[in-house]
Amino acid sequence: MYPKLRQIDDKPEAYMKHVNEFVANPVGFFLISGKNGNGKTFTAEAIYGRFYHPHSDNMFWNQADLKMEWQRLYARYGSTDYFFKEVVKAPLLVIDDLGTTRPTESFMEFLYIIADKRHKQKHTHGTVITTNLNSQSMREMFGDAFVSRVASGRCLRHDGPDRRPMLF
Ligand SMILES: Nc1ncnc2c1ncn2[C@@H]1O[C@H](COP(=O)(O)OP(=O)(O)OP(=O)(O)O)[C@@H](O)[C@H]1O
Ligand SMILES: [Mg+2]
Repeated sequence: MYPKLRQIDDKPEAYMKHVNEFVANPVGFFLISGKNGNGKTFTAEAIYGRFYHPHSDNMFWNQADLKMEWQRLYARYGSTDYFFKEVVKAPLLVIDDLGTTRPTESFMEFLYIIADKRHKQKHTHGTVITTNLNSQSMREMFGDAFVSRVASGRCLRHDGPDRRPMLF
């Protein structure tokens, strides 16, 4: 279902060192950035898969899916507190493709408090974030306080080739 860590290929040694060290001690933030299509999501899936267990509280969210779920719960219950607590307590949380869509102010607030709470739990909980933004564009889109938290741990930038086939 999820790719295996050993399937991550064509990456520099330093890249794999970061991945292996995080897997050995999956706590704190692990920010993986780089251009489109070079395997960031694939890497996050392999890390997540390494800890996959049907009854675990780990969570893997694409930013766009997270926003849809957050909107759906708000529309249905008028509150997202319960969901927020679930996201915050996940031993391993992945937020994939951060920055593919610009967050609204209220969704940004939701993301910010998640980042803040996860930062406070950085010695016990692991948070993997993938993005194709650089630090400057992330600051513009998400604000300095958010970036300073999510970039507080391991930061890995890799700009390998786009592996998605271009058909046009
Ligand atoms: N090691 C690998 N082996 C096989 N396929 C891979 C590998 N790494 C990436 N791919 C494939 O290449 C494509 C692009 O990878 P992925 O989605 O991880 O890129 P990304 O860096 O997350 O891109 P984006 O920035 O657009 O989100 C996917 O179809 C993925 O399955
Ligand atoms: Mg991706």
